[in-house]
Amino acid sequence: MENSHTKFAKAFHWGFIILYAYGLLKQLNDVSQLEDSGLLTFEVVFASLFLLIVLMRYFYMRRFETFLGAREPVSLIHKRLAKAVHTSMYLCLVLLPLSGLMIAALFTQGIKEGPMQNFSLALHEFCASLSYFLISIHVAAAIYSRIKGEGIWTSMVPIWKEDSGSGR
Ligand code: HEM
Ligand code: HEM
Repeated sequence: MENSHTKFAKAFHWGFIILYAYGLLKQLNDVSQLEDSGLLTFEVVFASLFLLIVLMRYFYMRRFETFLGAREPVSLIHKRLAKAVHTSMYLCLVLLPLSGLMIAALFTQGIKEGPMQNFSLALHEFCASLSYFLISIHVAAAIYSRIKGEGIWTSMVPIWKEDSGSGR
């Protein structure tokens, strides 16, 4: 049985990495940078677009099974674990722009410091760190699966494809 993710799913998966990398590259160092109203507007537009794309992707991908490309039946625990990491990634990537938007909203209300702004900043930083952690686990698991030759890698990744035979 040979199954692959759709072209659309692959475009979402790989296109999103560019968006995410850009988000990390343009990260701010300090709240005071938001005094620049052009930058503030740009951040808000970017975060809204980011949020929209993550949500669209989530609702599109929901219909597909986890480990769609697996050649052998995968244990339920293994599948649930992968699903939990995928769902956590979505949650984290929704909270990252949302907390950014919270920072912006408070800032425009004149709340530049204090407990509410500190909470938004802490949430924002926590989500950024958690995203690095979850994505590292995800990529490590994908590479491990590729080495085992389970077919899951090839269903999503366009390079270093597994053979259609035994996969080794
Ligand atoms: C920003 C970085 C990444 C994020 C946020 C991410 C997120 C996800 C998510 C949420 C899924 C589940 C399907 C979906 O909803 O789209 C998925 C599937 C997958 N990803 Fe990634 N991914 C990233 C990078 C990578 C990289 C670098 C690799 C490989 C080197 C990879 C390999 C895979 C594979 C093989 C699948 C298919 C798993 C399955 O069929 O259940 N991902 N990814
Ligand atoms: C999808 C959109 C966004 C991404 C991917 C993103 C990403 C990041 C990252 C990775 C950091 C560094 C966190 C750390 O030091 O651990 C950061 C910091 C920061 N971001 Fe965002 N951000 C986004 C949207 C926003 C928005 C909309 C605002 C507000 C207008 C904002 C305001 C800030 C501020 C003020 C900091 C500095 C926090 C500090 O004082 O250490 N971000 N962002």
